[in-house]
Amino acid sequence: MSKPHVLVARAVFPETISKLEQHFEVESNPGDETWSKAQFIQKLKGKQGVFTTGSERIDAEVLDACPELRICANMAVGFNNFDVDAMTAHGVLGTNAPDVLTETTADFGFALLMATARRITESEHYLRAGKWTKWSFDMFAGSDIHGSTLGIIGMGRIGQGIARRGAHGFGMKVIYHNRSRLDASLEAACKASYVGKEELLGTADHVVLVVPYSPASHHTIGAAELALMKPTATLVNVARGGIVDDAALAVALRERRIAAAGLDVFEGEPKVHPDLLTVPNVVLTPHIASATIPTRRAMADLASDNLIGFLTTGKALTPVNPQVLAAR
Ligand code: GLV
Repeated sequence: MSKPHVLVARAVFPETISKLEQHFEVESNPGDETWSKAQFIQKLKGKQGVFTTGSERIDAEVLDACPELRICANMAVGFNNFDVDAMTAHGVLGTNAPDVLTETTADFGFALLMATARRITESEHYLRAGKWTKWSFDMFAGSDIHGSTLGIIGMGRIGQGIARRGAHGFGMKVIYHNRSRLDASLEAACKASYVGKEELLGTADHVVLVVPYSPASHHTIGAAELALMKPTATLVNVARGGIVDDAALAVALRERRIAAAGLDVFEGEPKVHPDLLTVPNVVLTPHIASATIPTRRAMADLASDNLIGFLTTGKALTPVNPQVLAAR
């Protein structure tokens, strides 16, 4: 019997390719070339599976052009690159990579929060530019993390990880807003209290966004929400580009309507809104919240295991549209 054909859309660990090659005919992209949508479709034609990274859009156009496709396995917990309804309608399974990145991403969320509140990169740039000629009493004075109020919007696994770090490690008061309230036991573990979004924005010293992207969460933070925040507050986005209106944020930062922001994700990334590049009070990182080698390996393994499981036994570990499995 011939092996199923699988496309790996981006460069990944060589071990991931070897693992997939034990089960599939694999076409990979070791040079990490940027393919146009037409090139992607061309390569995907005739393949039963695709290993995606969150950058490749799977929509009706792709699905119509690739009728042999049965599974798209994302090496990312977020899957807003999938048109899940179109995939389900085409009988194509989507899988994501949850859990394995939770603690690493929560570590990063906290690192970005601290770098932002304590002005780490802004002060480093100053030093590297040779501007540090003497110490002064208020040089790069930031805001405290310990004992402050942490507001988390999006209290899934990663949000809870950030809450635990804040509450248990730094004695922060944690408030959160989420589509649904957590069970009392989870709230107790995170020492977190549920509040409305407006109350959170008006009360928190530090607001961290960990909400998944969907049309409903587009611009969760725009000019109106920024206006509710304290002028001393920081905002951190480790969720997705598009959750924050980056243009409105740049204005709020420039006018010091909030103190600072830390952003790992951007609208239209890898492009970054030019105004964000010119304001000093923002820490910018290139979508690296899950980037440690053990975690990226675990994410690649989970995406591969989903491809192998589904295409060899019809089972998948982390489906995002399990109706496709049920319908088989
Ligand atoms: C990263 O952004 C992910 O969704 O895993």
